[in-house]
Amino acid sequence: MARKWWQDAVIYQIYPRSFQDSNGDGIGDLEGICSRLGYLKDLGVDAIWLSPFYKSPMKDFGYDVSDYCSVDPIFGTLADFDRLLEDTHKRGIKLIIDLVPNHTSDQHPWFVESRAGRDSPKRDWYIWRDPAPDGGPPNNWMSFFGGPAWTFDAQTGQYYLHQFLPEQPDLNWRNPEVRAAMYDVMRFWLRRGVDGFRVDVMWLLVEDALFRDEPENPHWQPGMWDRGRHLHIYTEDQPETHEIVREMRQVLDEFDGDRMMVGEIYLPYEQLIPYYGTPERPGCHLPFNFHLITRGLSNWTAENLRRIVEEYQASLPAWATPNWVLGNHDQHRLASRIGHAQARVAAMMLFTLPGSPTWYYGDEIGMVDGDIPPEKVQDPAALRQRGLAGDQGLDPGRDPERTPMQWTPFTYAGFSTVEPWLPVNPDYPERNVETQDADPESMLTLVRTLLVVRRETPGLREAPYESYKAPKGVFAYLRGRVVLAALNFTAEPKTLAVPPGEILLSTYLDRYGAVESTLELRPNEGVILRLQ
Ligand code: GLC
Ligand code: CA
Repeated sequence: MARKWWQDAVIYQIYPRSFQDSNGDGIGDLEGICSRLGYLKDLGVDAIWLSPFYKSPMKDFGYDVSDYCSVDPIFGTLADFDRLLEDTHKRGIKLIIDLVPNHTSDQHPWFVESRAGRDSPKRDWYIWRDPAPDGGPPNNWMSFFGGPAWTFDAQTGQYYLHQFLPEQPDLNWRNPEVRAAMYDVMRFWLRRGVDGFRVDVMWLLVEDALFRDEPENPHWQPGMWDRGRHLHIYTEDQPETHEIVREMRQVLDEFDGDRMMVGEIYLPYEQLIPYYGTPERPGCHLPFNFHLITRGLSNWTAENLRRIVEEYQASLPAWATPNWVLGNHDQHRLASRIGHAQARVAAMMLFTLPGSPTWYYGDEIGMVDGDIPPEKVQDPAALRQRGLAGDQGLDPGRDPERTPMQWTPFTYAGFSTVEPWLPVNPDYPERNVETQDADPESMLTLVRTLLVVRRETPGLREAPYESYKAPKGVFAYLRGRVVLAALNFTAEPKTLAVPPGEILLSTYLDRYGAVESTLELRPNEGVILRLQ
């Protein structure tokens, strides 16, 4: 079977608010993205994933959609979107958009209608329950953003479910009308020509039909986030979810041109892998594998990373496409988690593992977490936690990883002409695209070169993974016995026995040429070798 584009595509995530402002309001927009497509082409990415740009009250910065088939004026117009799509395709790049099917905004006409009365024809489009006998919430389910997952609606005397903010009511995916409506949303964008969807919180689409209380989590302690109190056996990864994912797949398959979906799923491998479906009844093309983030960044050692990679390789069926992620708009910045030297090694690993890697905007220049002063915090998750904690809880939430892209050493880093919605990181005069572009040893040059090597080296995109023995502190692997990646996760030099070969790239960007039988790795160095 011919390989599909998404089986080895480098996906670049853009958070539209923070990429490029074109109209001087301090917020990024579609026109801004259009103006930076040349940069993305030079960088060498295969696909772009856009976080939501739909009409929204912006309580969760676009993950609270009030109209799935329109563009929020902050970001532009539908015509701007069509132009962006066309320009992206002209450059040979695919465009994936965010689909937020689990919940709408409370301002969405569907919810407005649903909450209007108990006999509303859309009442059952959302999840409404009577209060508990004491008048409290129907059960003990907690929201991801703190507090109960239920909000009381005084007018109709019932509670509605929201896994996130009260302004993000959960849709009832057991209702066939809801399914049909969301599949039509997919068709709307597929007809316009998008190449696929990143499906928001795919593993949360359905909850227990009996609304049972979730059991206590024995590891939870006061001070940890609310949702950690329970084990989520009734609000996550319910069996019916797989049926929905298969239906979404069928919608994609109604269209030609290899449309695809990648699903946001934070689960252990044994629960994650079933989201691929089966060859006869396929599900999600790429269920996001977040393990490098969730188990890797907190324990950044060669041994741990090898375990994460090899457990995955061992549990994936042969027909399923692997995928890897090191950052997104919900996770602290790569360079802040592991430092700049190791971020280079991380990039080499990500782009030499088999399958499809996803890259977060700005990581290619080593952007770090922004330092957000308490009075400038925007993230609703952080603000809500703060309110619930009743103090100035200083956790800035997810703002630090959402700061404006740093393009130039000039005003507001070239992102905007006015003060941006989040402060630009103070390191922008040195850390920006323009400066790194001219530096033959910068992180940007490394990422760009890695993507050239990935494209041009037979084996790197398609050959199977094979474990390779390495000393402690080094993670090494072969791709189809023609390429060897040797990655030093320590700050000490390491020596590795290798077959004769040629260095294609070092993370230091300063050496090439033949290697006989031993490879000397410098501190924090990764090397790609082509074997003879
Ligand atoms: C996903 C998004 C996150 C958002 C949440 C609710 O986890 O990545 O940013 O807040 O869904 O839609
Ligand atoms: Ca703007």
